[in-house]
Amino acid sequence: MDEMRLQKYLARAGVASRRHAEVVISEGRVTVNGAVVSEMGAKVRPGADTVAVDGEPVVLPAETVTFMLHKPAGYVTTMSDPQGRPTVAELVDASAYPGLFPVGRLDADTTGLLLFTTDGELGHGLLHPRRHVEKTYLALVEGRLSESDLRRLREGIVLDDGLTLPAGARMLAGDDARRAAALIGSDAGASGQLQRHGGKRARSALEKHGSYVEVRLREGRKRQVRRMLEAVGHPVIALHREAFGPLEVGDLPRGDARRLTDAEVAALKALAS
Ligand code: URA
Repeated sequence: MDEMRLQKYLARAGVASRRHAEVVISEGRVTVNGAVVSEMGAKVRPGADTVAVDGEPVVLPAETVTFMLHKPAGYVTTMSDPQGRPTVAELVDASAYPGLFPVGRLDADTTGLLLFTTDGELGHGLLHPRRHVEKTYLALVEGRLSESDLRRLREGIVLDDGLTLPAGARMLAGDDARRAAALIGSDAGASGQLQRHGGKRARSALEKHGSYVEVRLREGRKRQVRRMLEAVGHPVIALHREAFGPLEVGDLPRGDARRLTDAEVAALKALAS
């Protein structure tokens, strides 16, 4: 395991919250390999260094936890927000799982599947640009994409931060479009996304003149789906992430989180390593 800051180690081991761990350190109660460490910057190597508080050895729990959340709109992807906005941390039992962090991010307006884990190796592995883990998005956009718009998305387009990797892109029709409409439209949070486009009447007009698109990305730049669809002339009205790698949000109710099964974690680990 990588080096980690001493206060994080103590928090993850369940000794104290990160802030309280700093107090415990500053009181000179913590030793690393037998020597008192009372400054904040110290790092330890889990498994290699011996950490003790008041002489009692402190070891990290071997078990890690990984959750999926069906994120509603209106929540910022961060574990704490200095501006006091609602955060995704409120929707997972963050205080019960020290070290839990979101795997990547969804915009405040975006709904759908967001993973959380205490397993740094897994989380960072899944986000590593070389792993190219596929994420599937459903978007309600203005207008209808032409074949040439879809081809541009598939081949890669130039955004202000460079050329995108080839993406999956297809218009949704029939049952697929109805399912996307149900997922996006029935989401009270997502309807907040729609409201910002001018209220109920404008919303039904947009739904009539808009269309549903599925986009599959193997990278994760900031607001990437929104910027790609904007670049081909079809701004996003509402966006939902349906799948992350092999995992789908399925019928998990909006706002709920659930722990992944061992088989699901194993499938993610296979993608992350
Ligand atoms: N792309 C976006 O534009 N927004 C998200 O939240 C995720 C992907």
